[in-house]
Amino acid sequence: MSATAQQIDKAGKGILSRLIKRGDIKGSAGECITVLDGGGSGFDRIVTVGFGATDKLTRTNYLKSLSVAFATAKKTGATTWISALAEVDINHPNEPQSDVGATPTDIESWKLAQQARLMQDSRYKFTGHMEGKNNASQRIQSVKGTLLISHCAPRSAKASAKQGLAISQGCAVARDLGNLAPNICTPAYLATLARQYARKHTQLKVSVLGEKQIDKLGMGAFMAVSRGSRQEGKLIIMEYQGAAKSSKPTVILGKGITFDTGGISIKPSATMDEMKFDMCGAASVFGSMAACVALKPRKNIIFAVAAAENMPDGNAARPGDVVKTLSGKTVEILNTDAEGRLVLCDALTYLKRYKPKAVVDIATLTGACVVALGGVATGLMSNNRKLSSQLLAAGNISGDKAWELPLWDEYRPQLDSNFADLANIGGRTAGAITAGVFLKQFADEFDWAHLDIAGTAWRGGAAKGATGRPVPLLVEYLLSN
Ligand code: BES
Ligand code: MN
Ligand code: ZN
Repeated sequence: MSATAQQIDKAGKGILSRLIKRGDIKGSAGECITVLDGGGSGFDRIVTVGFGATDKLTRTNYLKSLSVAFATAKKTGATTWISALAEVDINHPNEPQSDVGATPTDIESWKLAQQARLMQDSRYKFTGHMEGKNNASQRIQSVKGTLLISHCAPRSAKASAKQGLAISQGCAVARDLGNLAPNICTPAYLATLARQYARKHTQLKVSVLGEKQIDKLGMGAFMAVSRGSRQEGKLIIMEYQGAAKSSKPTVILGKGITFDTGGISIKPSATMDEMKFDMCGAASVFGSMAACVALKPRKNIIFAVAAAENMPDGNAARPGDVVKTLSGKTVEILNTDAEGRLVLCDALTYLKRYKPKAVVDIATLTGACVVALGGVATGLMSNNRKLSSQLLAAGNISGDKAWELPLWDEYRPQLDSNFADLANIGGRTAGAITAGVFLKQFADEFDWAHLDIAGTAWRGGAAKGATGRPVPLLVEYLLSN
């Protein structure tokens, strides 16, 4: 029993130890028991949380137990929560006790930030289209959460809680955008949203390129995707200035296909509705930006979104078309459903003009990545060792994990075309990697990494909805590097 649990037990005349003795509370990892009577302890309800054996407790399992705990607390309907979960020690030999992240520099601060984040996350509910029901009884009541701190200085505790809350709010922004219907969340909608943010935050400057400019600049690959849609494609650039103008920016670039039918290479209809989530990379860029304007890191960051809709149409690109990219390289489009890499390659070339320190793109790029890593890890590919290790670390610390796949030259011949410099698909094998290798051809002037979030950005089935990933990873990366 943790120290606070012991105190409650004492005040409640042994209410918890009785339940433990009886075997109702086992303390196994992820076990949550709601005790609906405080037994005179002064609390109306107690939720006990199991973490398993302390020397076996990993960060991942700590976070899992937190999520179950807050979901259980929510179910009780209580509106005042006090969490004593910082008292749990994470002693697994594989878990470092310090240097775990940006602002939270030790595991105690980390536990507080994660509690603030997941407590807030547990209250997320999408209400974007529930006009009629969007009244007080539907909305989640506000919950007052208190975090007990034990081994953490109050000032750093406050900073940690603030960071956790900002990341949760960033996730909510990303989830809301992902969950919105594709007839509402169009490229124009995203451009308007960007302008709204810029109006509210003086540190942000927004520019939007429409199709006229995109076409005129020579982004033939972007246009090949966008031209079949009635919705105008947009390249959205949001510049956050947190440091001297001369300081080179970090760029994060999101795939914003607001609906992916596959185009002429049309997808089967079953679960095609889920292709509204094909802008979750863009959504994570907005979410990270929302967190950054709250936390104000002292660095320059460019938040970029390549937004378009992929539709079959008389004007759509066909398999066999050859287009010229902004880089000058030509691409043979063998499958119009491999559209993400087409909008991103031109955006990557365009971003060169900002002389970036590093570029990280985020994209629901391939079904193959879902096959490889499932919903557990985001696929990470990079042309730079240091950058990939920074992103992997940010994933581990934030509980928003990524796993690296290679971009070796041996894969490049899979993209050979008889008619152009490159084909836009690489055959049946290593699909996540060949998509990465395609993008790599356009990232020759800067350190670059690619996050394939096709498996992690949303869940299908009964719990269908956007997850907000990889906002926690991205914000951790942006704050600590
Ligand atoms: N947006 C999809 C990727 C996707 C598919 C994500 C299913 C999540 C679930 C992407 O535009 C796409 O269609 N990719 C193709 C590429 C293929 C044609 C080389 C794919 O993965 O099938
Ligand atoms: Mn596609
Ligand atoms: Zn797509």
